[in-house]
Amino acid sequence: MKSLMIQGAKIIATGSAIPSFKLSNDEMSKIVETSDEWISSRTGIKERRLLTEKSQSINDLAISASQQALEKASMDPSEVDLIILATSSPSDLFGSASRIQFEIGAKNAVAFDLTAACSGFVVGLVTAFQFLQTNTYRNILVIGADVLSQWVDWSDRSTCILFGDAAGAAIVQSCSSIHNSILSFKINTDGKYASHLSISYEKSLHKLSVGNLKLYQGAFKHVYMNGREVYKFAVSQVPLSILSCLEASNMSVQDIDWLVLHQANERILTAVAEKLSISSKKIISNLSKYGNTSAASIPLALDEAIKEHKISDNDIVVIAGFGAGLTWGTIILRW
Ligand code: ACO
Repeated sequence: MKSLMIQGAKIIATGSAIPSFKLSNDEMSKIVETSDEWISSRTGIKERRLLTEKSQSINDLAISASQQALEKASMDPSEVDLIILATSSPSDLFGSASRIQFEIGAKNAVAFDLTAACSGFVVGLVTAFQFLQTNTYRNILVIGADVLSQWVDWSDRSTCILFGDAAGAAIVQSCSSIHNSILSFKINTDGKYASHLSISYEKSLHKLSVGNLKLYQGAFKHVYMNGREVYKFAVSQVPLSILSCLEASNMSVQDIDWLVLHQANERILTAVAEKLSISSKKIISNLSKYGNTSAASIPLALDEAIKEHKISDNDIVVIAGFGAGLTWGTIILRW
C-alpha cells in the first residue's frame, strides 16, 4: 500500500452500457427451479440484463460505455494514451482491448486486457494510476466489462441467478498533485482460495500421429462458486481493506460520503456496512436491476450515481472490489 504523491490522477468522466434484454426473477424461475422470493431474499437481485443477440459481444458494450465517457469528457479518441480492459469474458482469448481501441478510433493508444475477475476495475484503476503517477501517460481509459451469461451453466440454479452482463468505463487523467483525487489504495490476492470461484480449463488427450507425442486440448467449463466461502471471505476482508486504506489517508469511516462496493449481493453490502458502522444511505446499490456484472459492476454503479447527481465535488468516495483469485482491493477518492 502507498500514498500517492508524485503526479496526481483524477477520474474526469464515466460511461456505462447494458444490454436491452431484461430477465426477471419470475422468468428465471421458468429456466431453473427457483423463485423471486428465494433470489430476492438471498441476494437482493430482482432482474438482470443479458446479451442475447448473436451478432453482439462484450466489445459492443465496452465500446458504447467508452464512447459515452469520451463524449462526457469532450475528448477526441486520439488523445487516449492507454486502454485497460478489465474482463474475465473477452471475445478473444488473446484479448479484446485492441479491437476496442480500433473501433473507438483511439489510434494512439496502447491497449491490453487485465484479468482480475470482479476486482478487475479496481486493479485496472490502480494500474492506470501507476502510469499517470510516473507521467508516462496523460489520458487512460479503464473499462470493466463482463458477459458472464455466456459462462454460467444455465441448469445450475446456484450460480445462473446471480450474474448479468454490462460494461462501465472511466477516463483517468493526470493532474498536478494538489488536485490528485486518488488518496490511497490497497489491493490483495490470496491464491490459496482460488478454487472457491473459477471458470476452469478442462483438458483431454488430443492424439497426434507423430511418434509418442501426446498433446492435451480442451475447453473452459462453467462458473463454479462456493457461495458460502465467498460470502465469508467478502464480509471479513473487504471491511479490513477499507479500514486499512482509510488509515493510510488519515481518515475514518465518518469521512466516507459514498461507498461503492462490487455489486455481488445485497447481503454482502449490508454486512460490510454493519461491520464499518456506516449508514446504509451512503451505500450505492443498483444490483436489484443488474445482478452481479463482475468487472462492470463498480463502474456501472459509479456512473449511475453520477448521473443521478448523488456524488458531488469533494465527496470522499470509497470503491472496493472483491472476487475470484481470490482478489480484493480498495481505492479512496476525493471526487
Ligand atoms: N433457488 C432456490 N433454491 C436454491 C437456489 C435457487 N436459485 N440456489 C440454491 N438453492 C438451494 C440449495 O440447493 C440449498 O438447498 P438444500 O438446503 O435443500 O440443499 C439451499 O438453497 C441453500 O443453498 P446454499 O448454497 O447453502 O445457499 P446460501 O444460503 O449460501 O445462499 C448465495 C447462496 C446467495 C449464493 C450465498 O452463498 C451468497 O450470497 N454467497 C456470496 C456469493 C456471491 O455473492 N458471489 C459473488 C461474489 S464474487 C463474484 O462477484 C464473482
